[in-house]
Amino acid sequence: MQYHMPARLYFGPGEAPDLVIGLGGGSPLDAGKALALLATNPKNIQDYEGKEKYAVDPLPFVAIPTTCGTGSEVTWVSVITDVDRKFKMSIKGPKLYPAVSIVDPDLIATLPKPMIASTGMDALTHAVEAYLSKPATLITDTHAVKAVGLILGSIEKASVDIKGHARQREELMYGSMVAGLAFGNADVTAVHCISESIGALYDIPHGVANAMFLPHVLEYNLPACTPKMAVLARTIGISAASDEQAARTFIRKIKDLSRVLEIPLFRSLDIDPDQFALIADMSYKNNSNASNPRDLGPADYQNILKAAYGD
Ligand SMILES: [Fe+2]
Repeated sequence: MQYHMPARLYFGPGEAPDLVIGLGGGSPLDAGKALALLATNPKNIQDYEGKEKYAVDPLPFVAIPTTCGTGSEVTWVSVITDVDRKFKMSIKGPKLYPAVSIVDPDLIATLPKPMIASTGMDALTHAVEAYLSKPATLITDTHAVKAVGLILGSIEKASVDIKGHARQREELMYGSMVAGLAFGNADVTAVHCISESIGALYDIPHGVANAMFLPHVLEYNLPACTPKMAVLARTIGISAASDEQAARTFIRKIKDLSRVLEIPLFRSLDIDPDQFALIADMSYKNNSNASNPRDLGPADYQNILKAAYGD
């Protein structure tokens, strides 16, 4: 979802709000954070891009997620698409953490299957990327491993019948939030660098783009983080003679999961391969590129895009 954020907010006498409540998926929650900031700061939203650029504390923000993917309810970042620049801005700072978050799994009880699938795969990507990211710590690792187990243990049944599977519904929602704690305190990596670039250029759901590229980025990153990838594999019960075999089985499982969840293939999006150089360049310039476990240049991103296109 894309937003033309208001340049600034004006309130008449007695009209100023006391707080902002965001209800919805990642885009509405992030828009809510941005509005809480604009309510107390006078400039355009673009002027607050980056870390702690606001002069005045934003209004208190209440986050109520209704999807199982964003993690925005526990992060300090608001991602807003600047449609003129075709760019996803990150506006962040400690005062942008929600004052209160209400995380109720029953709010996703009527979410359609494609939304369970795509937002659940976004949450899985958050957890896996946080775990493999360069800034990962023991604390973020704990959250990431927990989230991977919760999400992979619940997403298939939840996507088939979310209403009839109360336990899986709860685990998926919980997993999404815990994944938010992981990546919010570590970082995401190359998957999000690509999905944010594609999402800024084309109207493609964020979670769908992540699911398309997650296995291909993992494959490319494998030489740089085989032992950690093997830990994730063993977390979900994969046993193999070597770390590399375990990691490769984990990657295969994620690829198969996307098929089961009916995530479309990258090729089906009708993106001209002529655009790969532009997407690769944007991905390379994404702030999270530095957090990827393997150093990637624009040519590496082109290789990943080509591999995903050939699927
Ligand atoms: Fe995401």
